[in-house]
Amino acid sequence: MEPVSEPSKLRAEITYNAAADHFGDSPLAFWDRYGRRTVERLSLLPGSFVLDVGCGSGASAIPAAIRVGPHGRVIGIDLAERLLDIARTKSIAQRLRNVDFRRADMTTLSYPDDSFDAVVCVFAIFFATDMVKQVRELWRVMRPGGKLAITTWGPRMFEPGSQAWWSAVKESRPDLVAAVNPWERITTTQAVLQLLSDSGIVDAEVAAEDGQQALQSPEDWWTVVLGSGYRWTVEQMNAEETARVKGANLKTLRDNDTKFIETNVIYAVAKKS
Ligand SMILES: C[S@@+](CC[C@H](N)C(=O)[O-])C[C@H]1O[C@@H](n2cnc3c(N)ncnc32)[C@H](O)[C@@H]1O
Repeated sequence: MEPVSEPSKLRAEITYNAAADHFGDSPLAFWDRYGRRTVERLSLLPGSFVLDVGCGSGASAIPAAIRVGPHGRVIGIDLAERLLDIARTKSIAQRLRNVDFRRADMTTLSYPDDSFDAVVCVFAIFFATDMVKQVRELWRVMRPGGKLAITTWGPRMFEPGSQAWWSAVKESRPDLVAAVNPWERITTTQAVLQLLSDSGIVDAEVAAEDGQQALQSPEDWWTVVLGSGYRWTVEQMNAEETARVKGANLKTLRDNDTKFIETNVIYAVAKKS
């Protein structure tokens, strides 16, 4: 694949390559949890051919590969080579020979129409500048009778950690506080239903599920910052600024005795007729 040049894609690639060093740490167990739960909702049949876009380190692609079995096949694509490397290592450790992890751009899929029995997109749809075009593209490569699963963050992602984090960033580097972060573009069941209907999909099951991630200590929150989309902001700061933001951010969590963050999600599954 050619190097990406579009600023939003370059940013995603840099962010998640950097986040790869903490992506699998226990305070980020939610990646695996929601990847697995997304796949459970698809009820994949043995022998199915599955595409997972924005697959990261294999949170959904690996459970999908287990589910479809040796006669099925899963292709996971992502821009972040370091996450793909982790996914490959995990699949080898589990002796899975039916899953391929490839560096590719989900916005320009090279697959013919009707290629896959299922298409999965977990916490990645909001990275597409044109989400309707992206959903149409995922729908295009899926055969009639196939199922599309899209999982997004629900409201209050990572609260109260997020609010404390952005307040601390605002104090030191107000220029890094974005008006809207990608994952904030679509956080309600209504917005997901709207996206699907704008993409021509009228018959979809959309469900919100509240969740939490336990924090053993405020340090756990910092691990979440480093292993998530917030890593971009950390990468823009120098060591002194980072230390200041971390100090202020963790002090708020310590003062409030924060024991968990919210990890609410929205699952959508749609069958192509
Ligand atoms: C929040 S992570 C989620 C990863 C994985 N699905 C999971 O739940 O653990 C979002 C992923 O989308 C990937 N991504 C963003 N834009 C992409 C694009 N245009 N094509 C492929 N992957 C993309 C990022 O590199 C990142 O790994």
